[in-house]
Amino acid sequence: MQDISLHLLDIIENSVRAEATEIKISISANLMRNLLSFEISDNGTGMDEETLKMAQDPFYTSKSERKKKVGLGIPLFKQNAEQCNGYFRIDSFLGKGTVINAAFAYDSIDRMPLGKVGDTILSAIIGHTETDFNLHLERIGFNDTVDFDFDTKAIKEELGDIPINYPDVVMFIDEALKEGIKKTNLEEV
Ligand SMILES: Nc1ncnc2c1ncn2[C@@H]1O[C@H](COP(=O)(O)OP(=O)(O)O)[C@@H](O)[C@H]1O
Ligand SMILES: [Mg+2]
Repeated sequence: MQDISLHLLDIIENSVRAEATEIKISISANLMRNLLSFEISDNGTGMDEETLKMAQDPFYTSKSERKKKVGLGIPLFKQNAEQCNGYFRIDSFLGKGTVINAAFAYDSIDRMPLGKVGDTILSAIIGHTETDFNLHLERIGFNDTVDFDFDTKAIKEELGDIPINYPDVVMFIDEALKEGIKKTNLEEV
């Protein structure tokens, strides 16, 4: 993987495939704790214990059409995080949903950049118009904390009958995400 956004994209796609109607994504650059951390939670089908265990195994996939190559999805995200003095944790409850917590040491020389996280989230929003996305970005510095919240539910309510992937709306969301990323300084991360 060239950047962490691609990991996020994969995790989001997993949630969508698990029929989640709401996906929450939180990204935190915590300079005090030297951590770049992520929480992605969904209200999808969840996994039983067996599936959860297998999901962390690089050879497992529930997709029937192919045998997974080593290094895709969850195992690679886990490996990358742990290699960067971080952690990876996945909790899942059948019928309730799944929560992933991952972190990288902010200053690890092995850490890949966050990448184009705005584009990743925008494409998820446009690609899955029935799913609600809730985004929280924060930067905890030595002197201050800056954060940004974005929720498609609120936008959809405002829009009424206009679809969220209507071009003007897409442009608006793109701008909003860019502003949030700039405000929290995550484009530099
Ligand atoms: N959010 C989720 N909800 C339910 N099941 C999930 C979720 N994320 C992953 N899984 C299960 O774990 C498996 C492995 O996921 P992943 O490592 O991303 O590989 P892939 O998506 O290629 O199958 C999935 O096929 C699915 O069965
Ligand atoms: Mg996947």
